[in-house]
Amino acid sequence: MAAPMRDGTEGMSGPPLAVPSGSEPGAAPYGNFPNYSRFHPPEGRVRLLPPALLGRLFPAGPSPLLGLDVGCNSGELSVALYRHLLGLQENKLSPDQPVFGKDLNLLCCDIDATLIERAEQCSPFPGSISYATLDLMDPDARELVLGSYLSRFSRSTFDIGFCMSVTMWIHLNHGDDGLVEFLSYLSSLCKYLLIEPQPWKCYRAAARRLRKLGRNDFDHFRSLAINGDMTESITRILAEDGAMELVCCFGSTSWDRSLLLFKSNRLTQKQL
Ligand SMILES: C[S@@+](CC[C@H](N)C(=O)[O-])C[C@H]1O[C@@H](n2cnc3c(N)ncnc32)[C@H](O)[C@@H]1O
Repeated sequence: MAAPMRDGTEGMSGPPLAVPSGSEPGAAPYGNFPNYSRFHPPEGRVRLLPPALLGRLFPAGPSPLLGLDVGCNSGELSVALYRHLLGLQENKLSPDQPVFGKDLNLLCCDIDATLIERAEQCSPFPGSISYATLDLMDPDARELVLGSYLSRFSRSTFDIGFCMSVTMWIHLNHGDDGLVEFLSYLSSLCKYLLIEPQPWKCYRAAARRLRKLGRNDFDHFRSLAINGDMTESITRILAEDGAMELVCCFGSTSWDRSLLLFKSNRLTQKQL
């Protein structure tokens, strides 16, 4: 299997030519690569986050904190985030006594049912991390899945959302309007949102890859008016109408991607 490119051009090497789950070889039209974490290891990203982040964001609770991981793939990054943010050692299988004194319940979703099945089978924390197959662009399905999860805790919002290496796939498959709607939905649902946007060069690489495979181009690639500096665009979209503000940028991974932390101006005022 090829090694990933140093510039992290998701779509050119590594995951792109791997066999995607549940569809024809090489397609992975949603970024649903079966071995994604081998090429873009969770450690490279979680190590950028302060381990005591949850304590800083939520000094007074609530408990448990509720997290949402959108586009979780087969769950490796979700589990790494969970361990890191609770201060659990790699070999510790029980969340009983998290070092940072926080209790976190995580709902992880992905459009690919095969990946979700794998994530469930491998989950070291079945009591605290739940998985669901969900197309995040389907309003009825997300209401059903996310709404019923939140209602189990008598809550209407998540404390923190994770959207890691997902925005490009939403953008390529649903266009500018789809990306704006997706971000607006997340901003209405999460008090804090951690986003790892793919830079524009990844879009070009993903489109090149499809062409190399002899497939049709992404429906929207050539008509995207939102392009170029994706960090700037995503920050601007989220800040529209004062919905969210950028609180912090946690450096850059070896794939040249930043982790951006946004805070909801509406939900945090009301509920923290
Ligand atoms: C490149 S992977 C990123 C996986 C993981 N978040 C990480 O960073 O390691 C993108 C994931 O987003 C998922 N995805 C793309 N579009 C989606 C949608 N509309 N609804 C739910 N998941 C989606 C894909 O199936 C894929 O597993």
